[in-house]
Amino acid sequence: MRRYPLIIDCDPGVDDVFAILVAYSKPEFDIKAICSVSGNVGIDLTTHNAQLIAGLLGLNCIVAKGAEKPLIKDVLPATDVHGSDGLGGYAGIFGDDRLSKLSDLSALEVERKILMESDEPVYIAATGPLTNIALLLSAYPEVKSKIAAISIMGGGINIGNVTPCSEFNYFIDPEAAYIVFNSGVKLMMCGLNVTLKATLTDIELNEMSGFHNTIADIGAKILSSYAANDAAIHDPCAILAISDPDMFQYKDQYVQIDTRAGITQGMSYVDETHSLDKEPNCRVFYDIDKEFFRKTIVKSVNI
Ligand code: BDR
Ligand code: CA
Repeated sequence: MRRYPLIIDCDPGVDDVFAILVAYSKPEFDIKAICSVSGNVGIDLTTHNAQLIAGLLGLNCIVAKGAEKPLIKDVLPATDVHGSDGLGGYAGIFGDDRLSKLSDLSALEVERKILMESDEPVYIAATGPLTNIALLLSAYPEVKSKIAAISIMGGGINIGNVTPCSEFNYFIDPEAAYIVFNSGVKLMMCGLNVTLKATLTDIELNEMSGFHNTIADIGAKILSSYAANDAAIHDPCAILAISDPDMFQYKDQYVQIDTRAGITQGMSYVDETHSLDKEPNCRVFYDIDKEFFRKTIVKSVNI
């Protein structure tokens, strides 16, 4: 089977945890690193949570700490959705002995090193604000040719969840999203149009609770508070877009990001009418096979 080298750049975050679990559960992926970024909660917590999930899974990959704030804006955590610790209050239930070791290198250096040393193109799944990725592409443009694609959970077309037009990850760091969308690197985008359909029902939650293993238990626990605030498990879509593109409907489009202050800040928009006469810069995912998604999430914790 073809295995995709993968870097997960994330801000765990309840649904980011499920992105890691789904990637781990799929033999198609060779996870090279999990890199944290400030987003749902501050950088120390997202880093801790990345170390925790990697440690609990016994994942043999690098875990590295990324940017502590967006490029220009201030931090604006989503503790109302993810809890004050990013994991719905459950981040502290294990001792530090369960944490995966943290790299001495920054996320930026780790990502550069993995990309430059790889013999084959590497996928990046970005499930938080795009700060680390924008810094990487700006500081080390030579990595661009080593990237198979950046698969992003972010944005949405004519829809938002922070403002009427803007999704959280792009709203938090719009300048970073702008840099990534103008980088020339192959992009895949699972925005709110698709991720708001990536939901679970009580059937899956009950199935997960029935497995009685550490991962399923913590998965069910962190979802219990999250689901009351956000029914969508957004971030695993960015993983599945790489391994299982046939479960989606998608189209190659020209997409841009609005960085101007106001309710459109961080908005992603598609040139549907080709009025800009630009080549597509992104594969935009629009629809999802919900049943396949639900089965995949349940399977990811049955270990
Ligand atoms: C995105 O924002 C975060 O709260 C989630 O983890 C997801 O990446 C959804 O808008
Ligand atoms: Ca996220």
